[in-house]
Amino acid sequence: MHRSYALDSELGHQQAPAPPSPAPTVRPLDISISACFGSPMNRKPIAAAKDKTLFTPGPLTTSHTVKQAMLRDLGSRDREFIAVVGDVRRRLLAVCGADAREYTTIIMQGSGTFSLEAVLASTIPPRGKLLVIVNGAYGRRIAHIASVLHIETAVVTAAEDAHPPLTEIEAALVSDPTISHAAIVHCETTSGIINDIRAVGALVRRLDRGYIVDAMSSFGAVPIDLADCHIDYLVSSANKCLEGVPGFSFVLARRATLSGTEGWARSVSLDLLAQWRELDASGQFRFTPPTHALLAFRQALLEFEEEGGVPARAARYRSNYETLLAGMETMGFEPYLRAEDRGYIITSFRYPTHAQFDFQKFYEGLNQLGQVIYPGKVSNADCFRIGHIGRIDAADVHALLGAIRMTLAGMGVSGE
Ligand SMILES: Cc1ncc(COP(=O)(O)O)c(C=O)c1O
Repeated sequence: MHRSYALDSELGHQQAPAPPSPAPTVRPLDISISACFGSPMNRKPIAAAKDKTLFTPGPLTTSHTVKQAMLRDLGSRDREFIAVVGDVRRRLLAVCGADAREYTTIIMQGSGTFSLEAVLASTIPPRGKLLVIVNGAYGRRIAHIASVLHIETAVVTAAEDAHPPLTEIEAALVSDPTISHAAIVHCETTSGIINDIRAVGALVRRLDRGYIVDAMSSFGAVPIDLADCHIDYLVSSANKCLEGVPGFSFVLARRATLSGTEGWARSVSLDLLAQWRELDASGQFRFTPPTHALLAFRQALLEFEEEGGVPARAARYRSNYETLLAGMETMGFEPYLRAEDRGYIITSFRYPTHAQFDFQKFYEGLNQLGQVIYPGKVSNADCFRIGHIGRIDAADVHALLGAIRMTLAGMGVSGE
């Protein structure tokens, strides 16, 4: 049983006189998948049945109880909401075992990009310079944000299917003492590759620079030790591996480093230090908070802890990945990354070479069967992506594989 904070009286209120509902409709998904793979009753009821299953990098499929936790209206200055915010901030540090004396949590309204922009806009000194380590679109986006903010930027670029070489990162830092900070993406969701933030962190620390990590699609599912990786600012989002709903993102920041950024903010709404101070002083946001998303997220964190924290989530996502990979390889699909470079968050698959394959038709066919995949993002190959994160398990992946097999057959693309 999931713990839920929804009050019984309110649930009662929600359940009170149900309006007459139209006759239930059976979606094509229910017919085709159950016909091919057995009754949905045999499946573990982990995902909400009525929505399409999201095999994307987020927003993701969430549990029913997470969605249910939003059935409240709390005031932004209400004592109960302030307690929720404090609880979420504490639990986020606990996700990665961070010492609350060394690190703090700052929650920011908006998607992950807003928190990334808040970190860059607030913590790089006026004459600072940012080294961005790029091996995908999200690394490029960090460099783009910095350039829009008129922050001087240097870039070390690696191929999208390769790890950025430490020697090049070291050379860039050594040759330019004006570089004050380095930024890297942990799981580069463009391809699914997991960058070695620990090795890069050791290098950045040795050369005495600030260290920013975009852990948007990895936090909560890939182990991260903030202190051991020498991270000053880690950025992630509510609707990724912690399985909340969209609406806010957050920064885990080293207190001592953030304290020294007074007067550097280039934005009012994205002022990280000001946001931290207000959250610490009053427990409140400076501007209207996403109250419902925070209620959902607190529930998501309880479910995360109940599942067994990072090790358990990693195990479920890895099992999703392995199930998917085995099925896809059986059908002849080829992953974009080499086996040793693949993570278990999202996998990029190359388009089949079959003349009848058309990604748009493939996508639409799967969508009609209730399965949502994602277009590719790598720049040097035709790929699509399948995420293995969110409230999904191996049974959901088997349903997707069945739908892929049916869709391919419908397109005249032979399977094995
Ligand atoms: C690694 C990474 N960074 C940044 C982002 C941007 O996050 P958002 O779309 O929440 O702004 C994403 C989104 O998937 C991501 O995967």
